[in-house]
Amino acid sequence: MMDWERFYREADYDRCAYVGGEAMVNLAARFFERVGVPDDFVSVGCGPAVCPFGLAERFPDTEFVGLDVSETVVADNRERADDMGLDNLSFAVDALPDLDTDREFDVVYSVATLYFVADAERAVAALWDRVRDGGHLVLNYPNRYSRAHFDREFDGRRREAFELVLDSRNLLTYDDVREVTGRRPRSYWKLVDAEDREFADRARPCVVVQK
Ligand SMILES: C[S@@+](CC[C@H](N)C(=O)[O-])C[C@H]1O[C@@H](n2cnc3c(N)ncnc32)[C@H](O)[C@@H]1O
Repeated sequence: MMDWERFYREADYDRCAYVGGEAMVNLAARFFERVGVPDDFVSVGCGPAVCPFGLAERFPDTEFVGLDVSETVVADNRERADDMGLDNLSFAVDALPDLDTDREFDVVYSVATLYFVADAERAVAALWDRVRDGGHLVLNYPNRYSRAHFDREFDGRRREAFELVLDSRNLLTYDDVREVTGRRPRSYWKLVDAEDREFADRARPCVVVQK
């Protein structure tokens, strides 16, 4: 299974958004236009936190938090936020499928993370639990189309990294998300008018659920 702490400690990693690339910042800003600018926003499995960094500059009145299982990426992000003078952006170590934080947020955002979490339904429940009433969960998850896609495209170390998905151990469906949250998920990509064809790929589901 992927050892993310080792990856960030040993690799000269890129500060990239792993699903959707740089476009994710503009799409999230559009999401704010659609649903209202949140008071606070947490990215769970934030990695190098492309979205939180991009958004914190544009929305200075919103508090952004990034949580990740890797101490190294959390420390790197803290240093960078300090260097940039961003006082509305903070980071902490925390891990799915359960979260230590008991704080609620207007937006709980978890993209490109559930692929690496064994107990996906428990993770969705933990994320949903952190959403304030009236707030939103934005969730990207692996499904059977992701598995088929990875099986076709990935070899070597990438297969190891995506072992849980390839072994069908953490695949979710739209109905699973509906069952766990008790609400009807909508497509995030549709809500934010993501035009690029890659966002329409059913192997890359991302839903938004309002509490
Ligand atoms: C592919 S990166 C995605 C980063 C970012 N969300 C993005 O979209 O670019 C996956 C991130 O999830 C983190 N992660 C993996 N397992 C996790 C877990 N159980 N709880 C929290 N974070 C986890 C990793 O450390 C890594 O930073």
